[in-house]
Amino acid sequence: MMLRWQVTESVLLMALILGSCSKPREDSASTAGEPTTHAGETIFQTRCFVCHGREGQGNGPASTGLGAPVRDLTSPSWQDSASDETIRSVIRNGAQAVGGSAAMTPNRDLSDGQVESLVRYIRTLRRR
Ligand code: HEC
Repeated sequence: MMLRWQVTESVLLMALILGSCSKPREDSASTAGEPTTHAGETIFQTRCFVCHGREGQGNGPASTGLGAPVRDLTSPSWQDSASDETIRSVIRNGAQAVGGSAAMTPNRDLSDGQVESLVRYIRTLRRR
């Protein structure tokens, strides 16, 4: 009896987790999105900030001398023009894949979930 209950409970939990990951990416506001946004933030603040800056403004410590300006991810006009699909592709394949600079290199080691989480985090960087 006890065991059966635990199994049911963990199946439900899995469904919840999977459900919140595959939800259409809306903006950060929903609390269900928070854990995945948090994972994206951690990755961003580990390997992206060096160029993109802590706040995503493109002014990180390694942002100069790259041969291309680092994209300001807080820009509302960029946010409006970049689809989630484009952002996913840039993260995975590097900016060259979308006609940009080779300075932004591919991140092929990231899982789909990690990439999705980064996309969501990047959406929270938009300035008002
Ligand atoms: C070595 C420096 C560097 C690192 C590290 C870096 N980027 Fe970039 N990124 C750039 C540059 C430079 C551009 C602008 C490319 C261009 O416009 O030609 C860019 C552009 C982008 C863009 C915008 C692409 C577009 O649509 O114009 C996104 C999104 C992005 N980076 C996300 C990330 C994420 C997420 C990470 C970490 C996983 C990351 N970057 C790590 C340098 C970097």
